[in-house]
Amino acid sequence: MFNKLSLKIGMLFFIFILIIQAFLFATLYVTLVNERVDRVLDSLLARGETHSEVLADSFEEVTLKHVGMMEAATNFIVVITDASGEILVNSDALEPEMLAVLQHTDFKKVSTKGEIVEEDWKTKRYIATDSPITIDGQHAGHVFMFSPTDNIERVVGHLKNQFLLVALIALVLTIITILLLSRFITLPLIRMKEATEQLSQGNNQVDLSNERNDELGELANAITKLSTDLDRLKKARNEFLSSISHELRTPLTYIKGYADILERGDTTEREREEYLSIIREETAHLTSLIGNLFDLAKLDRNQFAIEQKKVSIAELLNSVALLVKPAFEEKQITLSVQCSEDLQAYVDSERIQQVLLNILDNARKHSFSGSDVRITCTEEENKIAIRIRDEGQGIPEDELPFVFDRLYRVEKSRSRERGGSGLGLAIAKEIVESHGGQINIDSQVGEGTTVTVRLKRGGDHS
Ligand SMILES: Nc1ncnc2c1ncn2[C@@H]1O[C@H](COP(=O)(O)OP(=O)(O)OP(=O)(O)O)[C@@H](O)[C@H]1O
Ligand SMILES: [Mg+2]
Repeated sequence: MFNKLSLKIGMLFFIFILIIQAFLFATLYVTLVNERVDRVLDSLLARGETHSEVLADSFEEVTLKHVGMMEAATNFIVVITDASGEILVNSDALEPEMLAVLQHTDFKKVSTKGEIVEEDWKTKRYIATDSPITIDGQHAGHVFMFSPTDNIERVVGHLKNQFLLVALIALVLTIITILLLSRFITLPLIRMKEATEQLSQGNNQVDLSNERNDELGELANAITKLSTDLDRLKKARNEFLSSISHELRTPLTYIKGYADILERGDTTEREREEYLSIIREETAHLTSLIGNLFDLAKLDRNQFAIEQKKVSIAELLNSVALLVKPAFEEKQITLSVQCSEDLQAYVDSERIQQVLLNILDNARKHSFSGSDVRITCTEEENKIAIRIRDEGQGIPEDELPFVFDRLYRVEKSRSRERGGSGLGLAIAKEIVESHGGQINIDSQVGEGTTVTVRLKRGGDHS
């Protein structure tokens, strides 16, 4: 139960709360004690004052005795002196400490108000007050009142016991609260720790989803999402690996098969030429496949250097068109470029050329001879849209969302004439997006396909 974190949090809370509580209790205790002592002192003084008032009215033997007798029956001690300090009456036996108070009194100083003359209840045995007796403005004597300090000590002791009890209860409640609180905080953390351990051991089915809407709840939900993402990634990786091995195996099978036939040596010169050209084609295909895979790996690791510059779009499109023209002419497809000279984009021209070549290669592969492929460019707010439109076979609607996936091909059988590896559009998408642009595809079966690439505009907007 006491794992490290809850212990740490608990101890920290405990120490802080203990300090705060100790401070509050001490302040309250001191205030209460002072108040009680003041009350005792005040009542002692009031008692002395009453006696002095009575004596002011009748400063006679009988009254003096009467006051003395009255206090003899109480816990208090009264000592009455005349103006010069001569003791007239004392209710109890005089003790040295009381005499010391009398000796320290300046009888020449005439004051009319009573005062506290000894209040040190901690070290002295008595606290004391002095109430002067004034008759017709004449100083006539003093009423000294004494109260044993064990009275006060008893009161304070009682208070102390009460405080100890309350402090003990507060302590127990604090400990219980802290235990509950630290578990409330640490329990989800422990669960999350266990879940992440499971994740690292390869179990991706962790479910920490919860209703808490605080930071801990968010963290738990984030871990759950991470586990599903991880699961999806693992599945995607496995699919990718199996497709890749299939992609590699097919051309290698061709190459091996035709090489075996050639080795047998019973082929005609024409057959030999044909088989060799197939081997060459398949080798070229493998080389381009591996090159594409390298590009994708680099794009994934963000190691694909992109050097963006202001580039004239018309120039870029014309140079790409020039490159692919022979291949288009061979298939009797007309390729046209329509782009205003002044449009500029902020791109890495070599990478965008690679994108356009991929798209044009698709357009050519999927177009019929005698059809048109048009490249146009237009301005759109702060973007430049390049559209490549063909009048080819088109892509079925249900396949359209997947054409940017890696290794996805509409025709699953890899015909040697049309068959690419299904990486061209995936690479194009990665490159365009790493430029901060977008790529979209629209297609209608039997009518043709339009690929739109939107790029950041150059010039003032770059
Ligand atoms: N213009 C188009 N017309 C019809 N189908 C297209 C067009 N462009 C792409 N496709 C379909 O989308 C699939 C994916 O295209 P992509 O360029 O990614 O791969 P690929 O051309 O097969 O191979 P690679 O480009 O790697 O040589 C293609 O196999 C094709 O079926
Ligand atoms: Mg392609």
